[in-house]
Amino acid sequence: MNHANPQINKHGELQHLITIEGLPREVIEHILDAARPFTELAGEEEKKLPLLRGKSVFNLFFENSTRTRTTFEIAAKRLSADVINLNINTSSTAKGETLLDTVDNLAAMQADMFVVRHAASGAPYLIAQHLAATGRNHISVVNAGDGRHAHPTQALLDMYTIRHYKRSFHDLTVAVVGDLLHSRVARSQIHALSILGVPEIRAIGPRTLMPAGVERMGVRVFNDMREGLKGVDVVMMLRLQNERMQGALLPSPQEYFKNYGLTPEKLALAKPDAIVMHPGPMNRGVEIDSAVADGGQAVILPQVTFGIAVRMAVMNMLAGN
Ligand code: CP
Repeated sequence: MNHANPQINKHGELQHLITIEGLPREVIEHILDAARPFTELAGEEEKKLPLLRGKSVFNLFFENSTRTRTTFEIAAKRLSADVINLNINTSSTAKGETLLDTVDNLAAMQADMFVVRHAASGAPYLIAQHLAATGRNHISVVNAGDGRHAHPTQALLDMYTIRHYKRSFHDLTVAVVGDLLHSRVARSQIHALSILGVPEIRAIGPRTLMPAGVERMGVRVFNDMREGLKGVDVVMMLRLQNERMQGALLPSPQEYFKNYGLTPEKLALAKPDAIVMHPGPMNRGVEIDSAVADGGQAVILPQVTFGIAVRMAVMNMLAGN
């Protein structure tokens, strides 16, 4: 493992995908370029390619998921991998088996890739470190969302979506709106937007949900949503992460919606051709009005579809193809 960038192996190749932070711009662009032909497979009768034939991909989701788990499974199957979805609730984790013991046992079943979601920030990195320390460098780890830390494939599919609709990044103003404090998605999005050269990244939200020192990530902070949305090209909404909040950070969901919910009236302050994104799951009537979520500027469902191709590109790259 390369300690300067633990995702890159000694041959300079991407071995794991743990975080967007520190990834070279060329690697991100290569993944976006590689995903493009995979999007075309969706229209084909035969959707399978033999690129991961003989490989075993283990989905280890210690936290709930609809989009990420399912699209990783579809992506791996389209690449002809064998996919094993470990049901955490019925696994021996429920009997007290440690994360690393679980990993060791699955590695003994000839795993080639672990796709890991965990409530603890750093869990995928811990697994990657453990695999390196025990001489199993051939197994790759993909972070499918860890605590508040990172959700790199979500950010990559978001970048793919922006590039699809806006063609390039160099003249965009992009707003990330809502609960940035608890959001692994926001952290990964901001790193990706910054690496890809977006000149203006805005962070919009209440002071209580803004991480301390977020300006150091190169964003302009707005506590007034109406001010922050003026003239933006892309609005990236975030879910209010009630499950990660300790204590009352907000007066009420109604109050939050009034100030930070994306309504048609607030969206009208952005550019007329602005796109609206949301990683899901959405809280309608809390961070987004249904009229916007289901409206003509929303690209929320295309994000999900692009996620399959982007995850195919990531897994294919990690497999060394
Ligand atoms: N965007 C996202 O991570 O959704 P899921 O929690 O459904 O995977």
